[in-house]
Amino acid sequence: MDLYEYQAKHLFDSHGIPVTPGEVCTTPGAAHEAARKIGAAVVVKAQVKTGGRGKAGGVKLAATPQEAQDRAEDILGLDISGHVVRRVLVTQATDIAEEYYVSFLLDRANRAFLAMASVEGGVDIEEVAATRPEALALVRIDAIDGVDAEVAGRIVEAAGFPANIRDQVVAILLNLWTVMVAEDATLVEVNPLVLSTDGTVLALDGKVTLDDNANYRHASHADLVDRDATDPIELRAQALDLNYVKLEGEVGIVGNGAGLVMSTLDVVAYAGEAFGGVRPANFLDIGGGASAEVMSNGLDIVLNDPEVLAVFVNVFGGITACDAVANGIVQAVDMLAARGEPITKPIVCRIDGNNAPEGRRILTDFGHPLVEMVETMDEAARRVAELAAERRAGSAS
Ligand SMILES: Nc1ncnc2c1ncn2[C@@H]1O[C@H](COP(=O)(O)OP(=O)(O)OP(=O)(O)O)[C@@H](O)[C@H]1O
Ligand SMILES: [Mg+2]
Repeated sequence: MDLYEYQAKHLFDSHGIPVTPGEVCTTPGAAHEAARKIGAAVVVKAQVKTGGRGKAGGVKLAATPQEAQDRAEDILGLDISGHVVRRVLVTQATDIAEEYYVSFLLDRANRAFLAMASVEGGVDIEEVAATRPEALALVRIDAIDGVDAEVAGRIVEAAGFPANIRDQVVAILLNLWTVMVAEDATLVEVNPLVLSTDGTVLALDGKVTLDDNANYRHASHADLVDRDATDPIELRAQALDLNYVKLEGEVGIVGNGAGLVMSTLDVVAYAGEAFGGVRPANFLDIGGGASAEVMSNGLDIVLNDPEVLAVFVNVFGGITACDAVANGIVQAVDMLAARGEPITKPIVCRIDGNNAPEGRRILTDFGHPLVEMVETMDEAARRVAELAAERRAGSAS
């Protein structure tokens, strides 16, 4: 999960990294009030999870509360690389003497971490790396040893920070490393880290990526999820512990095993070409040992997607044999009917693997008019694409 700048700065602040005081606002009026409270010149900054905000007109200086309100008015609603600005950070303006760059990131290829630092910050660091690589210091961080004062000193040395601010930068690097470890981040970046005209070093921007695999040990990270920006179906799926990703097509997919589901997406997209471009509506992996309950949760999620016109259940029986899977489908359909939401969309099932004949028999005996069985994956993909196309034509006429 990527954090907004204001969230990253909260984390920085809580780990002792100096930042300017500020407040996140959703209306121009709130920006006026925030600037009034700060009682000095402020910067109004678009909060979007994409780079290049300054260049896109999303970072503006305001000398008075009225100016802050006007700038917030300009910036709220702005589209920055496809991200609409819903919030601005109103934060105290700093008199900048120098702009630097520092970051830590996970270096998967080398099974280590990497520190990057430059005294030429504030600009696009990718450009510095491409055009003047000698200006960007790279220091490998041992994953076990981490960053201590000695390693932080080496980073400062390599980047060529001035001697008079060395201690301040070392302290900030140590605290940034604490953010990395204590919060389970895979990236922490400060661009720009600045030297202000009064001689203090502070973080004027912040970018943090948290490792979602570690969410279970950070109860507080749940509050950082931007629920407004997350697809509502994905939120429901998350609550049910399902591995679901919303896509843009019409065929709902339920499968077991990430590899099988990925190839199901491919065969449906391919088969759909013959039917005017029918495409998969989602990725949903219900897992290897999926119970009837998980199957019904999965079907429920997929059937409730208004974009879905037909569903493809593609299961390879393994640990959970096909008869259990078939029973899961039957129970799911019955459960939905019992809840007063009987299914209205066709479900095409292809089940193969452990105990397949018994599974097929169960579905045949079930005899539901909207549930059909198709022998092979390719045929099933063709059939479900055909059904989705029919329904699309039906609703269009
Ligand atoms: N609090 C502040 N006081 C004074 N100037 C600021 C402040 N915050 C940002 N700036 C100036 O605005 C520039 C751009 O700000 P910032 O780095 O936050 O956004 P960006 O680089 O455009 O966006 P991104 O980092 O998402 O690409 C900074 O390099 C700095 O010169
Ligand atoms: Mg920046």
